[in-house]
Amino acid sequence: MSVVEQAGIPAETKYQGFTLAVSEQSNGRLLQLTFNKETVDQFFAAIEEWPIQALEYKSFLRFRVAKVLDDLCGNQLQSLLVDTLVDRNTGALLITPEGLDDVSQAEDMVRFTTAVCHLMGRSNFDAMSGKYYARFAVVNSDNSDSYLRQPHRVMELHNDGTYVEEDTDFNLMLKIDEQNMEGGNSLLLHLDDWEDLEKFSTNPLAFRDIRWAVPPSKNISKETYHPVFDLDVNGDLITSYIDQFAQPANFEEGVWLSELGESFESSKGIQSIRVPVGSFLLINNHMWLHGRDKFTPHDGLRRELMRQRGYFTHKKTLRNPRQ
Ligand SMILES: [Fe+2]
Repeated sequence: MSVVEQAGIPAETKYQGFTLAVSEQSNGRLLQLTFNKETVDQFFAAIEEWPIQALEYKSFLRFRVAKVLDDLCGNQLQSLLVDTLVDRNTGALLITPEGLDDVSQAEDMVRFTTAVCHLMGRSNFDAMSGKYYARFAVVNSDNSDSYLRQPHRVMELHNDGTYVEEDTDFNLMLKIDEQNMEGGNSLLLHLDDWEDLEKFSTNPLAFRDIRWAVPPSKNISKETYHPVFDLDVNGDLITSYIDQFAQPANFEEGVWLSELGESFESSKGIQSIRVPVGSFLLINNHMWLHGRDKFTPHDGLRRELMRQRGYFTHKKTLRNPRQ
């Protein structure tokens, strides 16, 4: 029996406008939410007057389109998203809006994800793009300064928002396009599926401030300091960790951080998730780590993604406010 079934979540439930099921791709923690095509079409008809630029320029419209979607779903969607994202047993959804599955619909995909995010919270400003979301492509060759766009290697497991001041409670990752792709699945690890949680969280370094700083492409020059581990308001362990941007102060921190990274990467709890074009992962960023498997090289390889990261406004749980 999966952890979700143990928590009393039925295999599949139909709601007005969408269905919810346990994802067959996961160990039971990841839920599959599918919006039916009729709902998706009605949503775009109702928000026709607000193209993506309108949502970029007027942030209150992001909440307005969220309300349109919730109304179409009989006002059951909002509470379901909020409850799922803060549920320690799940906290992750793979969301598929039927009929949104081609790169020519990229802007509509971003509009749809905007509605979903703003039912739970508010998306943070993304310094990489200068907008509330960031679109970026991965191609066969890359000369950037981090692993984000590099295709032929694993992007190791990490939390987002480790180097910014704002809380990053949720992380939405949308697949906009995929050409000549083999491999490249999303990798997810829930902290409670990680064998070494107790070992590392009880180390004296677990709650010591570490320095975090990023390369120039992130457009953030300020450093931040915080520990890898923290307790949320429920007393559960959460993490804020990324291998590339940790700046250990000394030998002791460097060795511990590298062992921590190795332990994450070798966990048997890692789940490999295929995200179809137009679908998106929505995860709680405190209790899930995420990464990406490597791709097979191909001259015509292209993948485009969008990320939208933000903080909860509806239910204050998880990370205590940073001091
Ligand atoms: Fe990330």
